[in-house]
Amino acid sequence: MSPSPSATRRRVAVVGTGAIVGGSHLPALRAHSDRAELVAAVDLDEGRLDDFRELAGGDVAGYTSVDAMLDAVRPDLVLIGTPPSLHREQTVAALKAGAWVLCEKPLCLSLAEYDDITAAEEASGAYASVVFQHRYGSGAVHARGLITSGELGAPRVAHCQTTWHRDAAYYAVPWRGRWATEGGGPTMGHGIHQYDLLLHLLGPWAEVRAMAARLVHDTESEDVSTALVRFENGALATVVNSVLSPHEVSRIRIDCSDATVELTHLYGHRNEDWVYTPAPHVASERAAAWTTPAADVPSSHTAQLGALLDAYDNGVRPPGSGPDARATLEFAAALYKSAFTGAPVHAGEIAPGDPFYQAMHGDHPHWAPKERA
Ligand SMILES: NC(=O)c1ccc[n+]([C@@H]2O[C@H](COP(=O)([O-])OP(=O)(O)OC[C@H]3O[C@@H](n4cnc5c(N)ncnc54)[C@H](O)[C@@H]3O)[C@@H](O)[C@H]2O)c1
Repeated sequence: MSPSPSATRRRVAVVGTGAIVGGSHLPALRAHSDRAELVAAVDLDEGRLDDFRELAGGDVAGYTSVDAMLDAVRPDLVLIGTPPSLHREQTVAALKAGAWVLCEKPLCLSLAEYDDITAAEEASGAYASVVFQHRYGSGAVHARGLITSGELGAPRVAHCQTTWHRDAAYYAVPWRGRWATEGGGPTMGHGIHQYDLLLHLLGPWAEVRAMAARLVHDTESEDVSTALVRFENGALATVVNSVLSPHEVSRIRIDCSDATVELTHLYGHRNEDWVYTPAPHVASERAAAWTTPAADVPSSHTAQLGALLDAYDNGVRPPGSGPDARATLEFAAALYKSAFTGAPVHAGEIAPGDPFYQAMHGDHPHWAPKERA
């Protein structure tokens, strides 16, 4: 008898063996070791590669070239944790080799690159998804169910806050804070997690008006951005993405007609981080049923990898890929376009031929000097 799909261990390779792969993808692989087997690792830096292989243990083949690894190993799934400017090329190479991909955020640097990846998906039949781990914790799954089912009433107004702190040493890493290598500042690199979750909870956005500035750091891109957003369902929201905030917090608050839902955390959430406050007209028995069920799945790479392996077993498009993840990147592009041009940006307007389709900075590679503090 052939094994059931879930009894099959998928052969996994990691590309880039730095902080996020060692610290988050490796624990996720260990947590799913009954379904996924790490067979290969790639890094240009042989010292990092050796350290990672030692940390991983077992029989993990090492490579310094993605193409050589793909040729030799033919993995089922490739996890990518390299700097963002490499994501498109490495994702496309893995798709061409028939592998599914789970790539770190941002999946790529522009909508043009995203559409290249979509074309490679269509040619290969494999899928590329992006790490947005905060969607997958049980608190987020539960909140989304309550909001999308209408149980909390109509969404009216929301706040989405990523107020973090990064120092000069953080930005001394050459790929950070540069358009060509990170794609932008906290809009692309930090706040993207929180507003991805906001979009996941509230559905399609319709219009963005934004400002951005470089106030503190010696970067090319912004170190703070703010946006006003109108959603298709009529709700309004504010979004703040900052790496210059001494008191760090990640927060989402959504006021619906029957309840306020609030999430407060920093780099990951658990059930206890979600609070529901009923409107005065809501009966207490109804509100009592909103509490997140006891099984507590923290938002994590482990939770997202589980969802991806489920999709692989079922041969269906994984969550966090295709049009769904594109909406988050399009939101980033709209925020930048509005910040650079001073005009509102509508969903769907950034198309081929628009400079903001090609790059997050459009044709403005540097902020004007007056925007420096
Ligand atoms: N999901 C999250 O919460 C989260 C958190 C931190 C970082 N990230 C993302 O993870 C990615 C990596 O960040 P990091 O902090 O781990 O960086 P890092 O610098 O620690 O690791 C990157 C690794 O890629 C390797 N590398 C560079 N060029 C390569 C190439 N051509 N082929 C193979 N390997 C190559 C480097 O040697 C290094 O080991 C970024 O996209 C970042 O935005 C995500």
